[in-house]
Amino acid sequence: MKYLIGIDIGTSAVKTVLFDEKLNKISSSTIEYPLYQPQNGWAEQNPEDWWNATLESIQIVTENVDHVDGIGLSGQMHGLVMLDGDGNVLRPAIIWCDQRTEKECAQITDIVGREKLINITANPALTGFTASKIMWVKNNQPEIYDKCRHILLPKDYIRYKLTGVFASEVSDAGGMQLLDIKNRVFSDEILRLLGIERELLPDVYESPEITGYCNIKGKLSGAPVVGGAGDNAAAAVGCGVVRENRAFTTIGTSGVVYAHTEKPVIDPKGRVHTFCCAVPGKWHVMGVTQSAGLSLKWFRENFASDLSYRQMDELAEKIPIGADKLLFLPYLMGERTPHLDPNVRGAFLGISAIHTRAHFIRAILEGVSYSLRDCLEVLREMNINVTDMTAVGGGSSPLWQKIISGTYNVQIKTPINNEGPALGVAILAAVGIGLYKDVPSACDEVIRNTPPVYPENCPEYEKFYRIYRSFYPQLKDVYKALATTV
Ligand code: XUL
Repeated sequence: MKYLIGIDIGTSAVKTVLFDEKLNKISSSTIEYPLYQPQNGWAEQNPEDWWNATLESIQIVTENVDHVDGIGLSGQMHGLVMLDGDGNVLRPAIIWCDQRTEKECAQITDIVGREKLINITANPALTGFTASKIMWVKNNQPEIYDKCRHILLPKDYIRYKLTGVFASEVSDAGGMQLLDIKNRVFSDEILRLLGIERELLPDVYESPEITGYCNIKGKLSGAPVVGGAGDNAAAAVGCGVVRENRAFTTIGTSGVVYAHTEKPVIDPKGRVHTFCCAVPGKWHVMGVTQSAGLSLKWFRENFASDLSYRQMDELAEKIPIGADKLLFLPYLMGERTPHLDPNVRGAFLGISAIHTRAHFIRAILEGVSYSLRDCLEVLREMNINVTDMTAVGGGSSPLWQKIISGTYNVQIKTPINNEGPALGVAILAAVGIGLYKDVPSACDEVIRNTPPVYPENCPEYEKFYRIYRSFYPQLKDVYKALATTV
C-alpha cells in the first residue's frame, strides 16, 4: 500500500491528512498557532510555529504507518518569509491579510505602470500580495532586506524545512505579483523595475512535479515532495475543478468564486485575480468577497449570540425572498471584487418597523450571495462560462447553498470528501509519483459529489440582485466622505 500526505498551512492552523493510494482518508490532525497583530491592520505569524505544528501533526497522522510515499504542500497565499544565508528566519512572516502596504502599492504602480503590471502579473498592485510586502521591508527595514538571501511563501518554507530545497510552484508564486502569469516564470522586467534580485527567489515548478525529497529522519525520510499549490488552487483539485466550465464557491471568513480556465484570461480592470492553476499549463480566475462568513459571524456575535448557526438558518428560512425589502451590503472589511475599494462599508437598506431579527439574518445570507454573484458576473463578462458549480468549505449551510444557487441560476453540488486543499495536494503528490496519469484523470477517479441543489426562484432573486447592484455606485462617494472624515 502507498501512502500520501497533504499538508495545508492555513491562517489559524495546519491541517495534515494521511491518505491511502485511492485517496481515502486514514487520519488527520489539525494544530493551531497564533496570529500576531502588532499594529492595526498588521498581520504576522512565526514561521517556526508553522514548522513545529507541522512536525507534530505529521507525527500524529503517521502513527500507524511505517512509511510515506509522497507529500503535497498547500497553504495560505501571499505571505512573506525572509531567511538569511544560513536559512534562519529574519523577521516574522507578513501574511496575506496584512494591510500595511498601501504606500508600497502606489510606489509599485508608479514604477511599473498599472497597465503593464496587470498585463504581466494579471493583477493591480494589492496590499495583500507579496511584492508590496517586500517593498515595505526594503523601505522600512533595509537592514533586514540586506541580510535576506531567500524569500519564500509560507508552504515553501515548510518545503525548505522538509527537504532543504528552495522551491515554489506556479499557483502560489503567481500571488507574489512577481510572476509573468502567461509564461509561468518570474518576470525579469518586474524584478528589475522593483530592484528585487532574482537569486532571492526560489525555483518555480508545476504543481505535480517533484521538487525534492524529505531529509528529516523517521517515517518521512526520502519521501518525494511535489510542488503542491496555494490554498485556492489546491481546493480546486480537491473538488475536481480542473476542467473548462467548472467552478467552485467557498464561504469561509471571505468568499471566493473560482473558475478553471484553459487560457490565461485577464480582467483589464483588475477586479478578479488571474493565477496559474495546479493543472500544468492551465490557469484560474478568482473573485473575492471580503466578508462572507464573517458577516454572519459578526451579526451572531453582536446580536444573536443566543442562537446557533442552525437556529439562525431556521429563522431565515421562514422569511420570504427579499426579506420583505431589506437588503444587506456585506462590505464590512472593504471589498475586493468587483469594487476594489478599501473604504466601502456595510449597510442594511430598506429597514422598516415590520422587520425582525430573522429578516436581518435572511438579508445577510442574501446580501453575501449577491456579492458572490457579482464575482460570477465579472467572470461571465470575461466570457468564462460556468456550467458546473461546486460548493466547498464548511461555511455554507443547505439554506445558504439554495440561496446561492437561485441567485446564480446554476445548480450546485458538494464533494462527499470534504478534505479540501489537503486532499488536493495529496492528489498532486499521487500524480507526481506516477499513481495517476494526470491531475484531471486522478480527480475523475477520486472525487464523488452529492446530488446537486437545483436553482429555484431565480426571477425573484434577480429582482433584488438588480436593486443590490445599484446601491454601490450611489453610495461610494458617501463612503469616501466617511473615510476622510476624522
Ligand atoms: C487569496 C487569498 C486567501 C489566502 C488565505 O488571494 O488572499 O485565499 O490564500 O487563505
